[in-house]
Amino acid sequence: MSEVAKIELDGKQYEFPVITGTENEKAIDISKLRDTTGYVTLDTGYKNTGATKSSITFLDGEEGILRYRGYPIEELAEKATFLEVAYLLIYGELPTQAQLDSFTNSITKHTLVHEDMKQFFEAFPAKAHPMGVLSAMVCSLSTFYPESLDPNRSAEAKDLTMHRLLAKLPTLAAWSYKNAMRHPFMYPKNNFDYCKNFLYMMFAMPTEEYDVDPVVVSALNKLLILHADHEQNCSTSTVRIVGSSQANLYATISAGISALWGPLHGGANQEVIEMLEKIHHDGGDVDKWVAKAKDKEDPFRLMGFGHRVYKNFDPRAKIIKKACDDILEKLGIVDPMLDIAKKLERVALEDEYFKARNLYPNVDFYSGIIYKALGIPTEMFTVMFAIGRLPGWISQWKEMTENKEPIGRPRQIYTGETTRNFVDITAR
Ligand code: CMC
Repeated sequence: MSEVAKIELDGKQYEFPVITGTENEKAIDISKLRDTTGYVTLDTGYKNTGATKSSITFLDGEEGILRYRGYPIEELAEKATFLEVAYLLIYGELPTQAQLDSFTNSITKHTLVHEDMKQFFEAFPAKAHPMGVLSAMVCSLSTFYPESLDPNRSAEAKDLTMHRLLAKLPTLAAWSYKNAMRHPFMYPKNNFDYCKNFLYMMFAMPTEEYDVDPVVVSALNKLLILHADHEQNCSTSTVRIVGSSQANLYATISAGISALWGPLHGGANQEVIEMLEKIHHDGGDVDKWVAKAKDKEDPFRLMGFGHRVYKNFDPRAKIIKKACDDILEKLGIVDPMLDIAKKLERVALEDEYFKARNLYPNVDFYSGIIYKALGIPTEMFTVMFAIGRLPGWISQWKEMTENKEPIGRPRQIYTGETTRNFVDITAR
């Protein structure tokens, strides 16, 4: 007999099916709860709520496991290219050489953005945060491709939109930086691979020859893979919920970019470097800052520490920490921020406060130090996260539409005033 959960409400017993995932994760299916009992569940921050069934990414927070479509993140980060991983996430299997060639060609063909978009860039102030620019630009792509507004298009038409997004996001990201610098925009070079082309558009100048150290290209490839998907986090859930209203994919991804921007989510990578710099300029007294993070009266938190799901270690952070040492050594960079980060990690991991709450360095703790070593400016860190996360967002949106999931619409427990009569303004 299949497993059931028994719930007693108002003296009456109800049974609800138990769903088991392929990795033996269990959930009580309460989709009929309100219809049968009149009750809803309350779970602020969705800490215990499975919002969907998904076959894309498996994450075990207790064991520190992360796999895309069954493949361990450690192997993918070591052996794959970012576009191979993007294909895997979106289409479910690693591509054959022919499939990868065709996917790469399609993406390469669409790296240019419409010339008129240059005027949008020029209208932004130089100090505009690149995440604000990126979100606006991605949404505005929908105005150039009005056919994308129709949610019921063919699979080929949807593929085209997905490929356009993958192709254009690095161009838009690099141009948001060029615009902030008031430097000329560099057009994509389609004989470069995905990562090298992005670095070229970021750092090349029309007046000079450009070449880049392969160590830098390979580090970027690894970082993008590590960020490519992370199941139902804040920005991905945003993508699924916005997409569930049948908003077009450009608007949907733009919403994901906005959600990622927050300092508790992807914005943490920028905050980490700013925090490390602050500690450095303050004399490097790590104990003082750990004490501040523990003080409940002090709003300061150790950025890059803690995670909603990982309660042992973040496997991405483990890979990034090692990559950070390797890359800085290969590039011959000595960064005092790395020493402070390591000291902070050591002190925090031995501290009862952090141990009791299972607070470990997360993906953002060391990634900023690598981005810095690659020459990426701090304000662009979260943009880098967005480029990495794009295939994840796309694959989650694709899965949701293929599964014909209903519009996302949670319930609430109303705690406001009960009915009362309008009071005229003279009597208030
Ligand atoms: N520094 C100090 N205390 C912390 C921290 C921190 N970074 N993170 C959590 N805590 C404490 C928190 O005060 C609470 O203590 P108490 O039980 O005494 O009230 C306890 O640990 C549990 O924290 P929470 O905020 O209830 O946990 P959450 O699951 O809601 O939040 C988090 C997870 C990632 C938002 C949080 O740990 C945090 O704010 N970390 C810093 C920001 C950060 O690095 N974010 C990037 C996350 S990884 C990238 C991504 O995928 O988004």
